[in-house]
Amino acid sequence: MRTWVAPGRVNIIGEHTDYNDGFVLPIALPLVTRCAAEPTDDGLVRVESRQRRGETVRAGIGELAAARDRLPGWARYPLGVVAEFVRRGHAVGGLMLDLDGAVPIGAGLSSSAALSCSVAVALRDLFAPTVVDRELIDIARAAENDYAGAPTGVLDQSAAMLCTAGHALFLDIRRFTAADAGYEQIPFDLAAFGLELLVIDTGQPHELVDGGYAQRRAQCEAAAAELGVPALRDVDAADLPRIAGAVVRHRARHVVTENARVVTVAEKLRQGADPREIGPILVAGHASLRDDFEVSTAALDTAVTAALDAGAHGARMVGGGFGGSAIALVDRERTERVAAAVGDRFVRAGFAEPRTFVVVPADGARRES
Ligand code: GLA
Repeated sequence: MRTWVAPGRVNIIGEHTDYNDGFVLPIALPLVTRCAAEPTDDGLVRVESRQRRGETVRAGIGELAAARDRLPGWARYPLGVVAEFVRRGHAVGGLMLDLDGAVPIGAGLSSSAALSCSVAVALRDLFAPTVVDRELIDIARAAENDYAGAPTGVLDQSAAMLCTAGHALFLDIRRFTAADAGYEQIPFDLAAFGLELLVIDTGQPHELVDGGYAQRRAQCEAAAAELGVPALRDVDAADLPRIAGAVVRHRARHVVTENARVVTVAEKLRQGADPREIGPILVAGHASLRDDFEVSTAALDTAVTAALDAGAHGARMVGGGFGGSAIALVDRERTERVAAAVGDRFVRAGFAEPRTFVVVPADGARRES
């Protein structure tokens, strides 16, 4: 069998901006989902996962839409990708998929996009070689939104597909979705500055299929509608007082200020500034997610505060929120001390000890063998 891989991601800055047509700045992680795939001639898709031993899932290529409801949740991601290729008219035949995911599940590191994108690149190479990356991203997102029922934006799939080692991906979502333009690989070499990026997985699972994420999206749409613009991307701070309700106004304020933070951070990195300079911007992003967007948790706040108290230059929750992970930007020689301090603070606060690990920007989805 041939194999393909796709990575998880952390977003350096730009949370809940993707579905508002805004800006994001992710890196891909060295952690990947591996998809081994082989065509078969029986018209069936069979999926196995090393994380779900003994649970082979089968469905006929022609009955994928109808099969959805009887499938276990995890299998809706790979089969959703197959179903989306079929729905778009690609000639997909029988297929065996063997999955192995190393991105922690529910950690806010996009294990689901790693999964859907690893399957998407495999299907492209096997059945639809003319499909371009942008369409592949759309296929993976549609699989997650429509088949798996997770109402994501396009950040995670774009990061999994487009990121490159040693770089952060600056993505202008509106330009990218409209015209396959508006993205840029910006060098992000923390080691050259004696820095490391520490991920702190709180161990508190984050689930996009829960309602909080969808509710935030609806509030953003309501804010844009109230201001008479297509998306919050089109709003600046001076427009915000025109939003009548305080909650919706605060949600919009997060998006407006977060877009500005992405642009500032991208510009600093582009100019080769010391990444320590982005630390305070990450902290401001966390405060905005906590206070205006209200998607942080006590554990995420504890991770951020403890990391900063132990000398991190910046720290913030990453991903959709309601659990998952935080990142901290630390001097290399302090990484262990920061990780230990966060662990201590967690235990004292009554949380289970978090998992901490250092990440570097890695490559996006690719064929491996
Ligand atoms: C989740 C979604 C993304 C994005 C982030 C928040 O990861 O899948 O599309 O909205 O939350 O930035």
